[in-house]
Amino acid sequence: MKNENLVRSIVSSFKPYQGEINPDELAKRLGLTAEEILPLHANENLFIEKDWIIERVKEAITTLDFRSYPDPETIEARNVIADHFGIESSEIVLGNGADEVLDILAKVFIDPGCETIILEPTFGIYGMCTLLLNGKPKGVLLNENFSPNVNAMLEALTPKTRMIFVCSPNNPTGNQYSKKDIKRLVEESGCIVAVDEAYADFADYTLIKWIHEYENLIVIRSFSKSFGIAGLRIGFAATNSALAETIRKTVFPYNVNKLAQKMIPILTKYWDYLSQKISEIKKEREFLYNQLIRNGNLKPYPSQTNFMLVKVVKPNFTAKSLQSRLLDKGILVRDRSGLPLLDNCLRITLAPRPVNQRLLECIDEIFGEEPV
Ligand SMILES: Cc1ncc(COP(=O)(O)O)c(C=O)c1O
Repeated sequence: MKNENLVRSIVSSFKPYQGEINPDELAKRLGLTAEEILPLHANENLFIEKDWIIERVKEAITTLDFRSYPDPETIEARNVIADHFGIESSEIVLGNGADEVLDILAKVFIDPGCETIILEPTFGIYGMCTLLLNGKPKGVLLNENFSPNVNAMLEALTPKTRMIFVCSPNNPTGNQYSKKDIKRLVEESGCIVAVDEAYADFADYTLIKWIHEYENLIVIRSFSKSFGIAGLRIGFAATNSALAETIRKTVFPYNVNKLAQKMIPILTKYWDYLSQKISEIKKEREFLYNQLIRNGNLKPYPSQTNFMLVKVVKPNFTAKSLQSRLLDKGILVRDRSGLPLLDNCLRITLAPRPVNQRLLECIDEIFGEEPV
C-alpha cells in the first residue's frame, strides 16, 4: 500500500504553504548580512528593538524551570490577560499563536460537510482550518471599498453554516469593519461569529467586551503583532465562560510553552513602552501613506494595521515585477495580486523611518529604470 493512498484526499489536494523567501536565505543569496535584509513581508513588529525583547525573555527565563511541563490551565497568563483586556480569566482560551486558536475553534464547531462563511480576500488560515475538517468554506466577496457585503453573507447562510470568520482589521486589505456591520452578523446570523482581531491594537476599537453581550461571538487576539513576540507563539480566544470552558476541554494540555506563558505578565508590565511603539507605527503609517500618495506610482489603501496594501499603478510595472526587483535589493514584501479584488497589489509591513526611507528610495530607483 502506497502512503499516498492513505493520506486523506483533502490533504493531498493541499499545496505547501508558500510564504516569501526566508530572510536568512535571501541574505546568503545576495551576499548581504541578515541585518541588511528588510523583512517587510510578514507583518511582524519591526518597531520593538530586538534587544529589548531579549531583555524581557531573560527576565522570564530566570523564573522558569524548563524540566517541568507548562501549566496546562494557563492560570497566570489568563489572569493577566483578563486584567489587561478587561474581561474574565474564565472567558479566555490560550493557543500556540492565534493560528492554533483558529484551528482549535474549527475543531470545536465544524463537522464534516458543515459550512463556514469567509470574506474574500482575507487571511488564508480560515479556509484551511475548515477544509482540514472536511468542512466547506463559502467565500463572499468584499465590496469594492473592502467593506463586508453583509447582505450577501446573510444570504449565504444555510442550515449547515456553523461559523462566520471575520478578520477585522482585515489582512491583507488593512481596513477595520464597522461595528454596525459586525453587529448585524452577530445578531442576525444565528451561528458562531469568530472575529479575528490580530491587528486591533493598531486600529480604532476592539470588540472584545462584546463577548459579554453576545453568546455566539468569539474574539481572537494575537501577541505576535502589538506585543512583538511572533517567534514565541501565543494568542487567545475570548468568549463567554460557558463556551470557553467547552473549548478548553478540546485543547491539548501543554499547547502553550512556559516561556510564552511567562512573557504575558512580563510584557503587560511594559505596556507603556509597547503602546508608545503602537503610536510610532501609526505615525509612520501616515508618513508612508502621504509619501506614496505624493509619489503617485503606488496607490496606498488606508490602513488600521501595522502593514499597508498598495496597488502598483505605474505603467509597465506589475506587483510581481516590483516585488522581484525589491527582492534583488534585499527587501521582502508580499505579493497579494493573486487574490480577488487585489490586482497588482503588494502588502508591505510598516517599519521605522530609516527603513521606510530606504524602501521609498529603492522604489524610486526601480521605477526610474527600464521595466522588465
Ligand atoms: C489576521 C491574522 N490572524 C492571525 C494571525 C496569526 O497570528 P499568530 O502569529 O498569533 O499565530 C495572523 C498572522 O499574520 C493574521 O494576519
